[in-house]
Amino acid sequence: MNSINLSQSETASATELAESYRLDISRKLVPKKRSEMGQFLTSVPIARFMASLFDSVEYGQIRLLDAGAGVGSLTAAFVEEFCSRTTHPQEIYIKAYELEPTMIEYLQSTFTNCCRLCRDNGIDLQEKIEVEDFIEGGAKQLANDLFQCPPAKESFTHVIMNPPYKKIRSNSPQRKWLQAVGVEISNLYAGFLTIAIEMLRPRGELVAIVPRSFCNGPYFKSFRRFLLEQMTIKRFHVFESRTHAFKDDEVLQENIIFHAVKGAALETVRITSSHSVEFSKEYGEMIVEDMTQRTVPYSSVVKPEDSEKFIHIATTDFEQHVVDRISVFNYIATLNHSRLDSRLRGNDA
Ligand SMILES: C[S@@+](CC[C@H](N)C(=O)[O-])C[C@H]1O[C@@H](n2cnc3c(N)ncnc32)[C@H](O)[C@@H]1O
Repeated sequence: MNSINLSQSETASATELAESYRLDISRKLVPKKRSEMGQFLTSVPIARFMASLFDSVEYGQIRLLDAGAGVGSLTAAFVEEFCSRTTHPQEIYIKAYELEPTMIEYLQSTFTNCCRLCRDNGIDLQEKIEVEDFIEGGAKQLANDLFQCPPAKESFTHVIMNPPYKKIRSNSPQRKWLQAVGVEISNLYAGFLTIAIEMLRPRGELVAIVPRSFCNGPYFKSFRRFLLEQMTIKRFHVFESRTHAFKDDEVLQENIIFHAVKGAALETVRITSSHSVEFSKEYGEMIVEDMTQRTVPYSSVVKPEDSEKFIHIATTDFEQHVVDRISVFNYIATLNHSRLDSRLRGNDA
């Protein structure tokens, strides 16, 4: 932390300071542990873009969850965003989970900077950092919740997250904690999302940056089902290049950002994409130079007849055309398969 001098911290914003912490700690993290713990931190432009996706507040009190908080870049961007809006909340409560001890001092500094910003804007900020495994802490709360009245689990109005990405082995403690609350999941990021969604209040909002892998494939089928039952997706942003979102860290993942609201009516989905990550604010909206955008009916993203619940994020009309054609073939194939199946079973009888 010695690299951050006081004069810098008095003039820089909470988010800019978090960016300097991110760059500082990224140099100190041990590469092997870094990849084991999924410690790839969000840069300022992406964090600000994510924070800008939340709707305006109807609540006097915001309760924000940042699970796997790192140095707190997402929280800082969130606080900055809400302090800059015309309608302020009166109170913000933030709960951050972070397992890595070397992040904690930075995270505490980010919270101090956020407190200062809130105080200047007449907002009361309370915060709590849990230095524990979010999956363990969350699963225990959910398990206790089954037997207690009033509920044992904490609840939140907002979740912002860039969860760690890692396969969870079948014999790992995290897999067992998740199984104990009835969740069968093989990747840590889907486990983080599941617990966070469980903790979200009705009409609560979630913004996350995650790999695109959950959108299709059999491993994520039960997660997709859960996600789509609980949440209504309002926005996807796709990074067209695998390298760009975490370019400082050489992460070769196809990443997407999504915004979803718990229990909202199904309407349209806005799909944007870009190669660049250099978002900036224009006319109150975060945009990026090469951004494409489409607004599509919900049924173009999740086909109502699709039992696999694949999530189609077509960034161009041509891609959508291909998706729609393939879906028709799949639907006909499924129908033919089930007709054949019932005829065969009829013949067997
Ligand atoms: C992908 S990084 C994102 C950090 C931060 N949210 C950001 O966007 O810059 C994930 C963070 O989760 C932390 N982490 C990994 N496993 C965790 C766990 N089981 N519980 C809590 N935090 C965890 C890592 O140490 C890392 O800081």
